[in-house]
Amino acid sequence: MKLFAKKPIAVLLAQAAEDGEHTLKRGLGAVSLTMLGIGSIIGAGIFVLSGREAAVHAGPAIVLSFVVAGIVCALAALCYAELASTIPVAGSAYTYAYATLGEFFAWIIAWDLIIEYLLAGSTVAVGWSGYFVGLLKDAGVVIPMVWSQAPFTVNDAHELVATGAILNVPAVAVVAFTSLILILGVTESATFNNVVVAIKVGVVLLVIVFGFMYVTPANWSPLIPAQITHPETGQSAYGVSGIFTAAAVIFFAYIGFETVSTAGQEAKNPQLNLPIGILASLAICTVLYILMSLVITGLAPYQMLNVAAPVYVAVDHVGPQLAWLKPVVTIGATIGLASTILALLYGQSRIFYAMSRDGLLPKIFSTVHPKRRTPWVGTALTGMLAGLVAGLFPIGILGELVSAGTLAAFAVICAGVVFLRIRHPELPRRFKTPLWFITAPAGVVACLYLISQLPSATFVRLAVWMAIGLVVYFGYAYWHSRYHERQIAAAE
Ligand code: ALA
Repeated sequence: MKLFAKKPIAVLLAQAAEDGEHTLKRGLGAVSLTMLGIGSIIGAGIFVLSGREAAVHAGPAIVLSFVVAGIVCALAALCYAELASTIPVAGSAYTYAYATLGEFFAWIIAWDLIIEYLLAGSTVAVGWSGYFVGLLKDAGVVIPMVWSQAPFTVNDAHELVATGAILNVPAVAVVAFTSLILILGVTESATFNNVVVAIKVGVVLLVIVFGFMYVTPANWSPLIPAQITHPETGQSAYGVSGIFTAAAVIFFAYIGFETVSTAGQEAKNPQLNLPIGILASLAICTVLYILMSLVITGLAPYQMLNVAAPVYVAVDHVGPQLAWLKPVVTIGATIGLASTILALLYGQSRIFYAMSRDGLLPKIFSTVHPKRRTPWVGTALTGMLAGLVAGLFPIGILGELVSAGTLAAFAVICAGVVFLRIRHPELPRRFKTPLWFITAPAGVVACLYLISQLPSATFVRLAVWMAIGLVVYFGYAYWHSRYHERQIAAAE
């Protein structure tokens, strides 16, 4: 009974309406929210992972993988937008699940979301470190490998092995820097984010516009390379199935539009502006990704793109005509990835804030700084955890786990829309998912299908993570939840 206690929607709406110095500040309008979405979407997915997936799984058909992943995200985004307009408080999928499916599912989702935000923040920080170290190297400053790489990696047998390095210091440093900005204030963070997003989108547009002038159409042919099976591993690549495998991995590139939904308590007019921010940021990024992947596979043969900086390599392949664009890409990616980390850690700190207010995490996570009006202790703790992971683990281990955790969360969100439409048809919904009886179930199926495309080692890691989550739930959260008593009283 207690496991499935629900947070009353009336309480949620009352919390959403609170104001004062111990609450978060409502400083974000539709434009800032859209920028927050774009800020967390465009990052390591397009700048780092896209090239590897084109080379290894999809070929030039990586553009179709971006279309497939974009459609799956659109289904989830429509459901997110409806829930955000119905229950506009901080906490994202976690809060929605608490109101609809009950505490236990909410906890599972929250534990998933830690992968989605905190681990994704760490993943992008590792990607950022790679670009930054390269940038310094070009400027003649060499950071020794022991201080710029992870001390652990995974070998072909999926065992954790030491690399000889001690700590990825740049990755830790960028997490510390972005956490500090987040602590300073939501307006400061939004201003920083708006500037950086403008730079990031500007660089992407430059690559698209100038890149299209130099594409070699022969690089796109055949669009879908014939399927092959690796003789040793038995794994297949390319062909139609390769498009879907790549879609599951580059799904990572789209993660972030739902960060907008974590800003429920800092948004002006959230019922209207949250759906706008979610849908607009996803739509803009989908178009940019499709064009960008067309350009990079058109500029260089896809086999060349299995590198840490595929966009740079594609531009470099053109020769002197686009030499001016190379430093622009490196600097743009370095700055751009920093904003992705900022947005993801923002999301994580707000989810911890919401969980703490519900009693599922210690109170310290929802302590708001009276002047800065930010959950500053929670943000600092989030930064420490994310920095630790970023400093110790490589991007490979983290990326697929992030995709799996996020897809699982999206599936529950789509299920939540179905549940709420049936159980609470009377709730005011400023935004309604079109054809919800098709869109929401299709979202559940599509997310589960993409999860099934990920390597099996990912499931084992996800299962271990969830097991730890259950220990924490039954060891702490269950005993501190604010809604058990209330639920029991209501039942009696
Ligand atoms: N979507 C974000 C990225 O690509 C997480 O880095």
